Amino acid sequence: MNDFKDKVVLVTGGAGGIGEATAGKFLERGAAVELWDMDAEAGNNLAEQWASEGHDVHFEVVDVTDFDAVTSAMDELKKRRGRLDVLINNAGITRDATLKKMSAEDWQKVIDVNLSGVFYCGKAAAEIMSEQESGVILNASSVVGVYGNFGQSNYVATKSGVIGLSKTWARELGRKGIRVNAVAPGFIETPMVKTVPDNILEKLKNQTPLGRLGKAEDIASAYVYLASDDAAFITGTVLQVDGGLVF
Ligand code: CAA
Ligand code: NAI
Repeated sequence: MNDFKDKVVLVTGGAGGIGEATAGKFLERGAAVELWDMDAEAGNNLAEQWASEGHDVHFEVVDVTDFDAVTSAMDELKKRRGRLDVLINNAGITRDATLKKMSAEDWQKVIDVNLSGVFYCGKAAAEIMSEQESGVILNASSVVGVYGNFGQSNYVATKSGVIGLSKTWARELGRKGIRVNAVAPGFIETPMVKTVPDNILEKLKNQTPLGRLGKAEDIASAYVYLASDDAAFITGTVLQVDGGLVF
């Protein structure tokens, strides 16, 4: 399939996990992909490998918590590509602890990456997309952003916040031809869930009607669908992709 030919797709946190799977799926569909991540080694290796397979991919080290770095990387992207069709605001971290034990530092760090990072990248992308009067912004929320979760005050606050941002941007940017949606994955087998104790993961698996944890590719498919013309009338929504977990 070549439905993203001539489209430019930016994936933040694209050097691993869900971001890597998402970038891979867009490349398979013919897109030119820009990867941003803090992990220079993983990002460079991935981009080299995909380029050697004939894909059009470019990696930049960008820390999404740095507003100036995001703005200048977006300017460079515009110079290099001339346009931006899809932003996948995927970079995210956890620093889990109960309310009692959570430090102010761990609170702030997660807010910086998962919420301010989404705001900075969305703001910079919306400028290009508004000029071209088209574009799609997809933001990484989580089922825990809808239902809450034990030990995740900081993370849940950001993932609920991302839903609010997505709905607000859908209202503001619709008139410019820009669609904005959030994706709320369940528990997905990536490095991120390695911090979750095994007994909790087992319980979650047993609660899931489809009987397994998610794979990065399950979420990548949701991003590709929402970015495609098949989703042309979908904006301001939250797509829960969790095997029926209803957390
Ligand atoms: N529900 C109810 N009780 C729980 C619980 C839960 N989910 N998790 C822990 N508890 C209870 C424990 O049983 C324990 O009870 P007792 O004091 O009666 O023994 C008490 O809370 C303290 O638990 P811990 O000994 O584990 O305490 P801790 O301070 O060492 O760790 C924690 C607390 C950091 C929250 C740890 O339990 C943990 O990592 N939990 C997993 C949190 C989680 O689900 N994170 C998701 C990461 S993946 C992700 O975020 C992606 C996404 O979007 C879904
Ligand atoms: P991951 O930890 O496997 O990958 C995250 C990537 O983001 C890494 O490559 C990391 O280097 C990068 N990153 C971290 N901080 C960054 C920063 N400041 N600037 C740029 N890049 C940065 O995580 P995973 O599982 O792939 O998660 C991706 C997104 O999906 C996150 O937003 C996460 O919250 C969300 N999500 C994940 C779920 C899961 O169960 N794995 C469930 C629900 C949502």
